[in-house]
Amino acid sequence: MQFTLLASALAAFAASAVSASPVSNAARMILDVWAPTIISPNASTIWTEGQQYNVTWDTSNAPVNISNGASVLLTKLSLVALASGFDLRQGWVTITCPSDVIPGNNYSIILFGDSGDQSEQFSIISPMQSILGL
Ligand SMILES: *[C@@H]1O[C@H](CO)[C@@H](O)[C@H](O)[C@H]1NC(C)=O
Ligand SMILES: *[C@@H]1O[C@H](CO)[C@@H](O)[C@H](O)[C@H]1NC(C)=O
Ligand SMILES: *[C@@H]1O[C@H](CO)[C@@H](O)[C@H](O)[C@H]1NC(C)=O
Ligand SMILES: *[C@@H]1O[C@H](CO)[C@@H](O)[C@H](O)[C@H]1NC(C)=O
Repeated sequence: MQFTLLASALAAFAASAVSASPVSNAARMILDVWAPTIISPNASTIWTEGQQYNVTWDTSNAPVNISNGASVLLTKLSLVALASGFDLRQGWVTITCPSDVIPGNNYSIILFGDSGDQSEQFSIISPMQSILGL
C-alpha cells in the first residue's frame, strides 16, 4: 500500500537523520511530525453505509505548529477519500460512510496530516443488515 511505503520511507529517513551529525533543520522537521492516535473508529466500531460518523483522535500531545490540510481515507483493498482540508487540532471530523463499498470486516481509516496513523480494523454493514440487526 502506498501509505505504508511512504511511512517506512519517512521512518528510514528519520532514523538515518538521527545518526547523522549535525542534524539538519529539514531532518528535525521530519522528526517532529505528529501522528495523532485514532480513537474512533476502532475494533468495536460498525458503520452503516450512508450514515454519518465522527472520526476522532487524541489531540492531547499536539505540537504548537501543525499544517492544517489533514485528510481521512477509508482503506481495505483500495483507498477512498472521506474528508479533507480540516484542522487536525480539532480532534474530530464528520464523515459519511460511503454507500458504494462492499459490506464486510477489515476496513480501517488513515488519518493523514503531517504524518499518518491507521485505525484498528472495523466493519461496515449495509442499511438492510442494520435494520435486520445482522
Ligand atoms: C471505539 O469507537 C466507538 C465508536 O465507534 C467509541 O464509542 C468508543 O469509545 C471507542 N472505544 C475506545 C476504547 O476509545
Ligand atoms: C461529531 O462531533 C461533534 C462535536 O462533538 C458533534 O457536535 C456532532 O454531533 C458529532 N456528529 C456525529 C455524526 O456524531
Ligand atoms: C509556530 O509558527 C509561528 C508562525 O510561523 C512561528 O512564529 C513560531 O515560532 C512557531 N512556533 C514553534 C514552536 O515552532
Ligand atoms: C479481518 O477481520 C476479522 C474480524 O474482525 C479478523 O478476525 C481477521 O483477522 C481480519 N483479517 C485480516 C487479514 O486482518
